[in-house]
Amino acid sequence: MSLDTQWVLAWIKNSQQAISDARIELIDLDRKIGDGDHGENMDRGFVGVGKAIDKDEPVDIQSALKMVAKTLMSTVGGAAGPLYGTAYLRAAKACDGVEQLEANDVAALLEAALGGIQARGKATEGEKTMVDAWAPAAKAAREAADDGASAEDALHAAAAAAREGAEATKPMKATKGRASYLGERSIGHLDPGAVSSAILLEQAVEALDG
Ligand SMILES: Nc1ncnc2c1ncn2[C@@H]1O[C@H](COP(=O)(O)OP(=O)(O)OP(=O)(O)O)[C@@H](O)[C@H]1O
Ligand SMILES: [Mg+2]
Repeated sequence: MSLDTQWVLAWIKNSQQAISDARIELIDLDRKIGDGDHGENMDRGFVGVGKAIDKDEPVDIQSALKMVAKTLMSTVGGAAGPLYGTAYLRAAKACDGVEQLEANDVAALLEAALGGIQARGKATEGEKTMVDAWAPAAKAAREAADDGASAEDALHAAAAAAREGAEATKPMKATKGRASYLGERSIGHLDPGAVSSAILLEQAVEALDG
């Protein structure tokens, strides 16, 4: 399967389902180092995205990602809403005129999303945020693209790196966002935003099988 409009629509639909399935998990993670709203926020956001897509099906990758951005921005709230909104908006911009993503485009999309998150939240790697999922994902996709990998393989590498990155937030001490209020006590828990990010990127891979 190619990474085209059908793929991006499948990615979005799968994301809605996967975030709904992970709602309790994300709530529990956010209860440990935040205020417990991340699962609820994300689920509300992706239900909104699903409705928006059903109402007015996007015709290309860019408009689909833009629709996700606008909906998440207006429905998720908290810290994650503007962060994810900016990520998908920058990702959309990176797909201007792209009908089918090649490995380079996958890397560019992820780099753009990461750039958006960092422009908005000012976090760098190691601060126990969603950056710790997106940064290794973008890097893995770029390395795969440079090695001549297919778009599918670049995406696979990115999703695996995002999951590893999310797992690696456990021993980190949070220095950004609400979790940073806990200082040392944030150590020993996964960052909810990094976990939701890994879930979303894994769904991009799942959508290839659809
Ligand atoms: N500055 C930041 N940069 C990147 N990611 C961040 C930043 N601040 C928070 N996050 C991410 O947002 C996630 C928390 O999202 P959530 O939806 O729970 O918002 P929140 O922290 O409850 O927001 P608020 O404090 O405004 O209610 C964290 O797990 C982290 O991954
Ligand atoms: Mg929260």
